[in-house]
Amino acid sequence: MKILVTGGAGFIGSNFIYHMLDTYPEYEILCLDALTYAGNMETLAEVAKSPKFKFYKGDIADREFVYDLFEKEKPNVVVNFAAESHVDRSIDNPGIFLQTNILGTGVLLDACRKYGIDRYHQVSTDEVYGDLPLDRPDLFFTEETPIHTSSPYSASKAASDLLVQSYYRTFKVPVTISRCSNNYGPYHFPEKLIPLMIANALNDKELPVYGKGENVRDWLYVLDHCKAIDLIIHKGKVGEVYNIGGHNERTNLEVVKTVLKELGKPESLIRYVTDRPGHDMRYAIDPTKISKELGWEPTTAFDDGIKLTIKWYLDNKKWWENIISGEYQSYYEKMYGER
Ligand code: NAD
Ligand code: TYD
Repeated sequence: MKILVTGGAGFIGSNFIYHMLDTYPEYEILCLDALTYAGNMETLAEVAKSPKFKFYKGDIADREFVYDLFEKEKPNVVVNFAAESHVDRSIDNPGIFLQTNILGTGVLLDACRKYGIDRYHQVSTDEVYGDLPLDRPDLFFTEETPIHTSSPYSASKAASDLLVQSYYRTFKVPVTISRCSNNYGPYHFPEKLIPLMIANALNDKELPVYGKGENVRDWLYVLDHCKAIDLIIHKGKVGEVYNIGGHNERTNLEVVKTVLKELGKPESLIRYVTDRPGHDMRYAIDPTKISKELGWEPTTAFDDGIKLTIKWYLDNKKWWENIISGEYQSYYEKMYGER
């Protein structure tokens, strides 16, 4: 099997590459990544030594580049992680989200059509379902929940899902889609809630909580997510959508307080800041379909996963200190300076 992993120098894609090479030493893994601000070759340093791994720097929206790559390598599976992934950046500058997430997905699908593929897998998000109210804990997103997006990020992800489904119906490209909840774990870029709070707490900086911190996310340990995608590409039914989530709902404030407690830092570091416009209240996945059909269950409870994650950030300070000492500083100032 030759798998093309796009966006493999980012958070989830890199964890997926490590998981696949560990689990299937005979597979060949190609990574295509544009190395945007979120891509990082240091993340792939270990795996880059493997003779089964090859890296290509390029943009999924660059048709000529993508066609050349398919012509040369003829991958039989594509797993598309490449995306602009941060909601706050999509509010600041939506255009690049449309370019990469929609047009880039379109180019990959065209390449699959032209050169043939056994499976194209689209890594999507529960954010395509919009949000749930806080006072209805009985409600969950199923695969049948209508698409109803809030941010330019989630709208662009929903558009790419629709494109993927259209290539299945119209051109018979063998596709699958997974929609997962918020991931956390090693190599998570420090603009996102959990790594941002860990890094700030370790530096005794304020922890910026949007609004009242009462929004709820359903946290999924990244390795559990990678195992679910592994199952879907091997056993999932073509044309289907699978929700992936771990029944690990926490308010943002609970998450932040857990980080502070684990690091022995005071809650006085918390600073409530202006809320995100259009901020989704609650995400919660019903993972019954993937559990019943493919036998997937999450194995890492939040209380264990957060300890593992904090330990990783403590053991790998150089990785995130290199990031936050660079252009990230101007991003941080712009997003949080006057907030
Ligand atoms: P990330 O931002 O950490 O990584 C994205 C990677 O894609 C980076 O390596 C970046 O360089 C690369 N990339 C960006 N634009 C590209 C382009 N035009 N061509 C090639 N490569 C490009 O993102 P992540 O958190 O690892 O998310 C991966 C996927 O999972 C995304 O599609 C995202 O929408 C989805 N997702 C993420 C989460 C989460 O909690 N992180 C939850 C649900 C879904
Ligand atoms: P984030 O990690 O950006 O993921 P998403 O918006 O895709 O769920 O944010 C997770 C939650 O944390 C979300 O409700 C926004 C909130 N948040 C803060 O309160 N402060 C922050 O500095 C960040 C980055 C996020």
